[in-house]
Amino acid sequence: MRILSGIQPSGRLHLGNYFGMMQPSIELQEKGEAFYFIADYHSLTSTFDPVILNQNVRDLALDFLACGLDPGKATFWRQSDVPEVTELAWILSCVTPMGMLERCVSYKDKIAQGIAPSHGLFAYPILQAADILIFDSNLVPVGKDQKQHLELTRDVAGKFNDRYGAGEEILVVPEPMIRDEAAVVPGLDGQKMSKSYDNTIELFEETEKKLRKKVMKIKTDSTPVEDPKDPEGSYLIDLYRLFSSPDEVEAMKESFRAGGQGYGHYKQQVFEAIRDHFAPFREKRESLLQDPSMVDQVLADGAERARAKARTVLDRVRSAVGM
Ligand code: ADP
Ligand code: TRP
Repeated sequence: MRILSGIQPSGRLHLGNYFGMMQPSIELQEKGEAFYFIADYHSLTSTFDPVILNQNVRDLALDFLACGLDPGKATFWRQSDVPEVTELAWILSCVTPMGMLERCVSYKDKIAQGIAPSHGLFAYPILQAADILIFDSNLVPVGKDQKQHLELTRDVAGKFNDRYGAGEEILVVPEPMIRDEAAVVPGLDGQKMSKSYDNTIELFEETEKKLRKKVMKIKTDSTPVEDPKDPEGSYLIDLYRLFSSPDEVEAMKESFRAGGQGYGHYKQQVFEAIRDHFAPFREKRESLLQDPSMVDQVLADGAERARAKARTVLDRVRSAVGM
């Protein structure tokens, strides 16, 4: 089974990115042939400064390795080191009906956030489909917001197979893997955590003090300290659940219902859970920073392996379309 996922290098990673995409990807590297990449072509739709783009790629590579991506098990590369995907994207764009792209909400959402409406932004899902299909991927771990892009990928693969394979599977149709418990990680204000909403908790906040300050900002209601509190729909509990055992979550819920503690008390628990979870990764990140050439080497090795696989699928596709 081949597992594939990608993430844009568009700034500092937050808990939504971690639980939606990184942690499942890292766990899955034990379960199959894992292929993970840094989607820098995609970032050209929104990051226009070359120095920042490069820095973001490096930071993301460090973060991923620090959090447990094992280059001995997973193939890890920078998307633009495998330019074959852009050729496949063009071929796929010729089997993709316009209406399919027009229905994609992420384009509309991004424009609403102020991102320039370029052709690249509009065609973004086709490049994503190419990323997935060029590796004969079976399983794609992502957060819920990527569900529509995965559906489009499956539809495009189906259209391609219908047109050129007469029902035979030339392109493998992948399955998304979206975890229920981390489908949408809430941000400080309760909306989806996203760098666009300025409501994130980063994996590696600069200091503990900053992390604590952010956690203290998580939105709660105004129930007085001594009163019982409703654990249902509490963002605080939703976040705590990501770091804790079912028993620990149950204990916090019980304590909510019993009353007698202010929200500050629970926020302190959430703060400690986040801090402790990322402490070993922070240490690992520090040590990786001492050896920048190691990161370059990992990405170069990954690109070589990924490119060899991409080439075989692209050749199959070229031959199917008559090239
Ligand atoms: P952002 O919304 O901050 O711009 P991205 O769109 O770059 O994040 O998302 C990168 C990956 O992280 C995707 O797989 C996405 O599904 C996942 N992800 C982002 N935010 C969340 C969230 N709040 N909950 C779950 N997964 C998320
Ligand atoms: N669109 C994804 C995101 O915003 C990133 C991405 C690009 C991706 N290509 C992919 C994810 C292929 C999974 C598979 O997070």
